[in-house]
Amino acid sequence: MRVLVVNGSPKGKNSITYQTIRFLQKKFPNDEFKVLHVGAQIGLYARDMSDACEAVKGADMLLFAYPVYTFLAPSQLHQFIRLLKEQDIDLSGKYVTQITTSKHFYDMTAHSYVEENCRDMGMNVLRGFSADMDDLLTKKGQLQVITYWNYVNHIIQQERAETIGYDEGKGNIPVKEKDAKYRVVVVTDCARENERLRQMIMDFRKAFPYESHVINLQEHEIKGGCLGCFHCAIDGTCVYQDGFSDLLRNKIQRADSIVYAFSIKDHSMGELFKRYDDRQFCNGHRSVTMGKPTAYLIDGEFSRESNLQLVLEGRSQIGGNFLASIATNEGVGADSTKTCADKLAYALEHRIQVNENFYGVGGKKIFRDLVYEMQGMMQADHRFYKQHRLYDFPQKKIGRILFMKAVGATLRMPSEKNPIQAKMSEGMLMPYEQIINGK
Ligand SMILES: Cc1cc2nc3c(=O)[nH]c(=O)nc-3n(C[C@H](O)[C@H](O)[C@H](O)COP(=O)(O)O)c2cc1C
Repeated sequence: MRVLVVNGSPKGKNSITYQTIRFLQKKFPNDEFKVLHVGAQIGLYARDMSDACEAVKGADMLLFAYPVYTFLAPSQLHQFIRLLKEQDIDLSGKYVTQITTSKHFYDMTAHSYVEENCRDMGMNVLRGFSADMDDLLTKKGQLQVITYWNYVNHIIQQERAETIGYDEGKGNIPVKEKDAKYRVVVVTDCARENERLRQMIMDFRKAFPYESHVINLQEHEIKGGCLGCFHCAIDGTCVYQDGFSDLLRNKIQRADSIVYAFSIKDHSMGELFKRYDDRQFCNGHRSVTMGKPTAYLIDGEFSRESNLQLVLEGRSQIGGNFLASIATNEGVGADSTKTCADKLAYALEHRIQVNENFYGVGGKKIFRDLVYEMQGMMQADHRFYKQHRLYDFPQKKIGRILFMKAVGATLRMPSEKNPIQAKMSEGMLMPYEQIINGK
């Protein structure tokens, strides 16, 4: 793949985000990475965009790499995007994705900003990767970015195969030949007369290579909505005795993945699904399906439902479930049920984990503090948080606090007498150099 990296950091080669690109270059020698340091050299591009245009035209994919700056991207990248749009070159169908580093504070708005502008230019947008600025220094962070890049490669290969007809018939595995390696449940509220949604579920199950079972909430008794009585806070048991707990804990949560299928109703998943969701308060603030990927089959104009989009993304972030795909029957631009089946199968096979953004990181901090404070009452949550080491309070990181005090002391010294300050950017990159080049 010929990848054009648009490095939007004003720090250019000294950018932390750019180290992730260098890491990928090392790990994926078959992909060709060309880099434009637009953040550091924006003056040059403001004068002349011709080289940039040639580079863009010659690439299979654009990769925006930048730090999140105050909710969005650095102003230099905003300027570059404006300049690119003004060139009026045909970018329709060109793949584009993004990698950011930040502290996850409003990283999702930055990603949306880049996605929206790329859609304006007709590009084929793939979900980006949002890393914490220290992630590349950990084995987990390195693995996550490798998994992400493999995923990007897979999606592009798959889509190309489909457009040139290599994939004919692959999705039509008869139901009896399904592989039982993974077991997926499709939870739906599909009414008898809802042919559109029923068709989507059938198409998905046909295309999906593993076992799938449908649980239709219409066929199960859920006596009422959550009463907010906190009876469940001690040990997770609900005051209702209607079989919901058995359905949820033994039939749904045990699956390797939960796929939700619904028709949009009143800008939501509808009241039956809402009842189902609220009754899950018996799980308190515990992400009991953490690590399992999820997907949605949606009948309706989901692209117009910005609030519902946010809710679904937030749920997967907080639940720790990689959102493999949202298939809709809107047509152009949306995942088809077949693409959804393929993406979910890939996510299961490669154990893809959710890439946390502000929704996940921020939301979990709120829950962490809440459960800690209310541990006397939320006893089931407290046990779970201790067991899963979710109390990651900053005051536990004594070493880092002391190190930053030392950095602060050097910054206070006047810069002409301060050799350390001049070398600060390079110094910060030393641990990355070790990871990329083993130096
Ligand atoms: C002007 C400025 C604004 C920033 N705004 C945000 C922000 O809104 N959210 C966040 O999580 N981090 C923010 N950061 C932190 C950077 O995103 C983070 O340090 C990033 O890893 C730097 O990457 P770079 O070295 O590639 O430039 C900001 C940093 C600066 C200097």
